[in-house]
Amino acid sequence: MSISTVRVDLAGRGYDIAIGPGLIDRAGELSTKLLARRRVIIVSDDIVAERYGARVFNSFKQAGIDASILFVAAGERSKEFDTFGQLMNALLDQRPDRKTTLVALGGGVVGDLVGFAASVLLRGVDFIQLPTTLLAQVDSSVGGKTGINTRHGKNLVGSFYQPRLVLADTDVLDTLPRRELLAGYAEVVKYGLIDDPAFFDWCEQNAADLLNGDAAKRTYAIEQSCRAKARVVAADERETTDMRALLNLGHTFGHALEAETGFGPDLLHGEAVGAGMALAFALSAKLGLCPPADARRVRDHLGAVGLPVRLRSIGGGNRRQWTAAKLIEHMRGDKKAQAGNLTFILARGIGKSFVTREVDEGMLRDLLDEAIAA
Ligand SMILES: NC(=O)c1ccc[n+]([C@@H]2O[C@H](COP(=O)([O-])OP(=O)(O)OC[C@H]3O[C@@H](n4cnc5c(N)ncnc54)[C@H](O)[C@@H]3O)[C@@H](O)[C@H]2O)c1
Ligand SMILES: [Zn+2]
Repeated sequence: MSISTVRVDLAGRGYDIAIGPGLIDRAGELSTKLLARRRVIIVSDDIVAERYGARVFNSFKQAGIDASILFVAAGERSKEFDTFGQLMNALLDQRPDRKTTLVALGGGVVGDLVGFAASVLLRGVDFIQLPTTLLAQVDSSVGGKTGINTRHGKNLVGSFYQPRLVLADTDVLDTLPRRELLAGYAEVVKYGLIDDPAFFDWCEQNAADLLNGDAAKRTYAIEQSCRAKARVVAADERETTDMRALLNLGHTFGHALEAETGFGPDLLHGEAVGAGMALAFALSAKLGLCPPADARRVRDHLGAVGLPVRLRSIGGGNRRQWTAAKLIEHMRGDKKAQAGNLTFILARGIGKSFVTREVDEGMLRDLLDEAIAA
């Protein structure tokens, strides 16, 4: 099967995203010409490393590239300062120079952590992303945002730093837990909902095949997603305009749900985004902006693939005491909230999203009350 390539156009720092099966074993061969020196340090998490670490390591060795591999623990905790500090020291123990390239092998946690490490190690070394979750393949590995978490919130320390190459191997998704796969799929659907109604139609028709392992459909979905994100990033690398903000469709609501569930295993980020997009469309319909049938279609599709769309079904079910007031408070705590006015991505229909800071708080409260009662 063929490999698709998406080019991210950034003056002087453009790079390719290659998508398709079998890429893990070709990492060495495909990176060779980009390396300033034939020396890489692979960083992975323990779960991913156990499955794919040796294969990636061997592919570099076979291409005649000097490689070593380091591990962090799997999970969001590895994006904390102490892990970051330990990683920097472990990297320096390997005696890298400015021409050494880091390779991030893993999901968004490894990508964000290693990307940030690359941006500050010896004041900046190259890095390559080998994203192994669907979320990382369609979202976090594209766009150059890197970062770690602090007690003030997630991703508050970081940098904009672009990789030299991204290799998204569709085969590695076979070992990803179904729940993680679905969470990543929510971000795929997002691209259709933002501005590509034909892609949303495609998702409705092909989600089952894609989720069940069809490599060609996975490649297509990842390619469309990366193209959509790359387009936005090329136009607005540092998120200075409303354009990049569209990528946050579902995220104002989603962030509030994540905050309320403690950013933990009760609700994965992609799951929160899925539920958040259903709420954003419900609010759009309630405000008379979007046909109610479109809002229903969004919710039905997300629910049909198995994503949680009812607040009742999220994080402990009925036991969780959602209140509109608490959710709104979390929205206000969102770093993307500007000067008191909440930012929402709403829609005039599927594929017709837009940014607004003028949402009537009474309507928002009513919508949340209805969603909590539903
Ligand atoms: N930089 C950005 O633009 C951006 C965008 C979105 C999210 N993020 C960040 O991404 C992170 C979440 O990323 P994630 O959802 O990929 O989570 P993750 O990296 O924690 O991976 C999820 C789990 O799946 C395991 N795993 C990964 N690949 C696997 C595979 N192929 N087979 C089996 N298990 C596998 C991991 O070990 C982990 O336990 C968050 O920290 C978030 O802040 C960043
Ligand atoms: Zn997201």
